[in-house]
Order: sequence, then structure tokens, then C-alpha cells
Amino acid sequence: MDKLVIEGGVPLRGEVTISGAKNAVLPIMAAALLTPEPCIIHRVPDLSDVKFMGQILRSLGADVQSDGGTMRIQAAQIRGTGDYDLIRKMRGSVCILGPLLGRLREASVSLPGGCVIGARPVDLHLKGFRALGAEVKIESGNVLVSAPRLVGNELFLGGRCGPTVLGTANVMMAATLAEGITIIESAACEPEVVDLANFLNEMGAKITGAGSPTVTIAGVKELHGAEHEVIPDRIEAATFAIAAAVTDGEVTLHGARAGHLQAVLDKLHEAGVRVERKGTDLVVRRGGALQPVDITTQPYAGFPTDVQAQMMALMAMTPGISIITERIFEARFMHVSELARLGVDIALEGPSAIVKGGKPLSGAPVMASDLRASAALVLAGLVARGTTEVHRIYHVDRGYERIDEKLRGLGARIQRMAGS
Ligand code: EPZ
Repeated sequence: MDKLVIEGGVPLRGEVTISGAKNAVLPIMAAALLTPEPCIIHRVPDLSDVKFMGQILRSLGADVQSDGGTMRIQAAQIRGTGDYDLIRKMRGSVCILGPLLGRLREASVSLPGGCVIGARPVDLHLKGFRALGAEVKIESGNVLVSAPRLVGNELFLGGRCGPTVLGTANVMMAATLAEGITIIESAACEPEVVDLANFLNEMGAKITGAGSPTVTIAGVKELHGAEHEVIPDRIEAATFAIAAAVTDGEVTLHGARAGHLQAVLDKLHEAGVRVERKGTDLVVRRGGALQPVDITTQPYAGFPTDVQAQMMALMAMTPGISIITERIFEARFMHVSELARLGVDIALEGPSAIVKGGKPLSGAPVMASDLRASAALVLAGLVARGTTEVHRIYHVDRGYERIDEKLRGLGARIQRMAGS
């Protein structure tokens, strides 16, 4: 398994282009199952999760062709049962259920497993499918859904931690081909859900309210092919903004959408980081001494859970006490013990991490555990004195396009090497 070897201490300077959003492109790829016509998707990031989703769609019978950042998907003839091993490996694959239910009125996929950040249940997805008239069964680790008729309905999709992003995506996709009107209350408001709704409407769906807690879908008979450019990845943009801050450099983010990052930009401002808008670019640098901040992760438009670990890396080198509370996932502090190996002083108290920042970090071998935790370890390695080795970086490659090349382009001393 490959590793990233980082020599810390270099302020990052220069420009980086933000790639297409992983969490938008995965459901948009799945949405192409809703029509037999070809769909063209632009600004597709080169990520292992995207490759996995392509393999899953092929295992269902779809034709998937990639050419650089453009992908062509045609699901002319498909079946409702996919490659279970592939589907088990990637949680995001759960979003093929909605399109398969909408197009074929039946589907059988392996129950997506949990992961290191939490149990990742799908009860809300299944509740939504049942509300549309589907029969749902769990048999030997597989989810079987079937509905001779899909009928629109009003349903509440909120869970104990608020809305579900992929649950909203799944129900929205199934409802596009249901009879009548579906109203989803407590829908997720993430920009990726809006991007999916825009793509579905380009396919002929009739969706209003995406981006608000109430989404209305008027069912149609069929959908046609469409061409779409995926929104930029707000989580990658946040990660590179924090990289500029932790290294005390100055980085221009090309293509970052400030409107998708308000909660993050607000906290960075409070922490003493200056972010200037220049057209469609964001220029990030420190505006003086860093200040400790308290963060609580929330559903959009609150502070995103996917930036929690990266902010912890910034707070680790900020003198003072910061309290970071994780309210979305029950186990999203895997990065804490690895950051401690670099000299960070963090105490865990239930859902909160108390970060006593400001001590100099020193490089060490660390182990990536999940996608965003890995990014946090890379950020800490950029400032730690000496050499940091981040092992198991396949976690990073799931959600960051060529992160070592992009960081090297900003002056970082970082190399990808074959792991031990
Ligand atoms: C999406 O996951 C993202 N993944 C995650 O990004 C992101 O962290 C998450 O949304 C929250 O923003 C993709 O879009 C591919 P949820 P999703 O359903 O949809 C509970 C990354 O790093 N819940 O919004 O699976 C759940 O346990 C990844 O890019 C239920 O209880 O997350 C969690 O506590 C990590 N029942 C909360 O809701 C359900 O049926 C939010 O989960 C579904 C979810």
C-alpha cells in the first residue's frame, strides 16, 4: 500500500484548481440509470470512488466510458442486481437503489456496510422507498426493494442527526418516475443534492425546492439523456484553504464556490485566516496570529462534518483551547490518536475533542483511517518538523484527485512512495 512522505515547514504558495465534487458526481452517475439514453457528465474527478461507481454501473449492464474529466453513461439495458462485492466496498453505492427502483421497479443490492466513522444505517432510505409504495426486505445481507407501482407521497425523511444526504438523493431519484406528487420534508440541503436535482431536471424531471428542507417531485413517465457539469468540490476547496492557513502561505483556489463554503469561511475568518474573493477564485492566507475557535458540525448550511478533521489540524497548531464537537457521525475522531503521534494535545470528551493547540508538531509515521482523517494527517504533516509518513493513502485517493501533485505544485515537499 502506498504512502505519502512529507517534509514539513514549507509555506504553500501558488494556485490550485478545485476538482468536481465527489459527493455530487456519485449520485449523478447513479441517476443516469433512470434513462436508456446517453448521459454526458463533465468535470468528473479522477477518484477511486468514481472508478468504483463506474464498475458498479457496468455490473448492472450500463455502458460507462471515461475520457479525461468527461464521462459518458448509457444504461440502455440494465438489471436490478449488481456486483455485491463492489457494492459492499463503497458506502456511496447505496444511491443506485433509488434509480433502479424508479426505472425497473425492483432492485437487490448488498446492504452497504458501516465504516470507521459510524454505523451508517440506511433505515431512512428504506422508509422513503416504502412511502412510495415499495416492499423492502433485508435477506442475507442484501436489500431487496420492489414496487409494482410507485406512487407519490408526502414523507418526513429526518433522522436522529437531521437530514440524510444520500437518503434524500435516493428518494428524489425514485420519485421522478413515480405516479403523482412526492413531497420530502426534512430533505438534505447540501449543494450536492441541488446539483443532482439540477441534473435530474435536465433529464426531464420536475423537481422544485432542492436546497431547501422541502423538496417536491412531480412524477413523469420517462426521463431522457442530459449533459451536465458537476459543481466544484467544496470539501476539497476547504481542505486546500486550510492547507494555506496551516503552512502560513498564500494559495489561490480556482473554481471554489464561496457560496458553498459560508460556514467554513466564517470559522476561518474567526480563526484569523483571510479569504478574499477574486472573481471565481478564492485567495487564502493568514491575516495575523491564528485564534482558537469552537466548532460543532451540523447539516448544511452548518459547519460540514467532512471538514471537521481538517479544522482540527489547524487548531492543533493554533495557541489556545479549541473545542470541536461532532454531531453527525458517532465515531469521526479516528484522526485524533494519529494527530497525537505528531505531538498534538487532544482530549476526547464524548462528542467533543478539546484541542490544546500551539505546541510545535514533529513528524512521525501515521496511519490513515478514513477519507477526511487522512487529509487532516497530510495537513499536519505539512507543518510538522521533519518527516511525516502517511500510510494507507488509498483512503485519501478515494476523495482527493492527485493530492500529492496538487500540493507539490504549491511547493510542498511531498512524495508518493510504495508503502511498506
Ligand atoms: C453523505 O453521506 C456524504 N457521502 C458524506 O461524505 C457526508 O459526511 C455525509 O453525507 C453528511 O454530510 C456522500 O455523499 C457519498 P447521511 P451519507 O445519510 O448520505 C444518519 C465524505 O467524506 N442516517 O447524510 O451516507 C447517519 O448515520 C463522506 O465525503 C441514519 O440514521 O450521510 C448520520 O449520522 C463521508 N439513517 C446522519 O444520518 C439513514 O438511513 C447523516 O448521514 C441515513 C443516515
